[in-house]
Amino acid sequence: MSSVNPTPLDAASAAVMGNFDHGLTLALSKGRILEETLPLLKNAGIELLENPDKSRKLIFPTTHPLVRILILRASDVPAYVENGAADIGVAGKDVLMEYGAQNVYELIDLKIANCRLMTAGRVDSAGNRQVPTAGRLKIATKYINLTRQYYASRGEQVDVIKLYGSMELAPLVGLGDLIVDVVDTGNTLRANGLAPFDLIATISSRLIVNKASYKRKQAVLSPILADIEAAVG
Ligand code: ATP
Ligand code: PRP
Repeated sequence: MSSVNPTPLDAASAAVMGNFDHGLTLALSKGRILEETLPLLKNAGIELLENPDKSRKLIFPTTHPLVRILILRASDVPAYVENGAADIGVAGKDVLMEYGAQNVYELIDLKIANCRLMTAGRVDSAGNRQVPTAGRLKIATKYINLTRQYYASRGEQVDVIKLYGSMELAPLVGLGDLIVDVVDTGNTLRANGLAPFDLIATISSRLIVNKASYKRKQAVLSPILADIEAAVG
């Protein structure tokens, strides 16, 4: 029979669990946003005390006694900030466009995780787009809201199929005619015999702030925002 012994939290972690209304809660996602945001935070005296990649914890204390960091799925960051569960967050413009948060200010373009939101699809050997010319196009994407808005703004009626990842697979196996996804080097498209078609938006990550926190927590927030802005340059 196996037994599970709970490991007591270290004092720093215990201090940032539960009510943290006196301080600032920052929502980040693992991967490129965390990696590229940490150097900017360092400029504001905010460093993680523990590596989230080596921990199962989701709330982390920092070297700044008034700042804790939540680690979330990238697409969940706007919901936490919009609802005040986090005061500030960092999210891609693609995620913000898709979510459509009303209750947040988009304060700083951090100029990180830069990419392009594009339509993409199959091409023939001469590079011609292989897209049906009659009927409604089927678009596979995780960005269903912004895809609908994009095609509606062009007066085109399309069917949108919701996926959660690996969009590049869809047109290869007949799930949709096109995809809408972010593109950086284009390597993923190329590796799957696809090509970028039309640019929907250029994307970078933005620092967002809950509107009420912005008013209520100015004293702790404004020096941090100024230091981050200075680090962005
Ligand atoms: P989720 O886990 O919620 O599905 P995700 O897997 O898209 O999110 P990341 O891959 O970490 O999360 O991407 C975070 C953000 O980084 C995206 O919202 C986008 O703005 C940007 N991004 C995504 N892919 C690239 C890329 N290949 N190069 C540069 N930036 C990118
Ligand atoms: C993103 C995106 C593309 C790829 C584009 O995936 O969904 O698949 O990057 O980048 P490229 O043009 O440089 O090839 P990511 O690397 O974030 O993987 P994930 O979405 O599966 O986490």
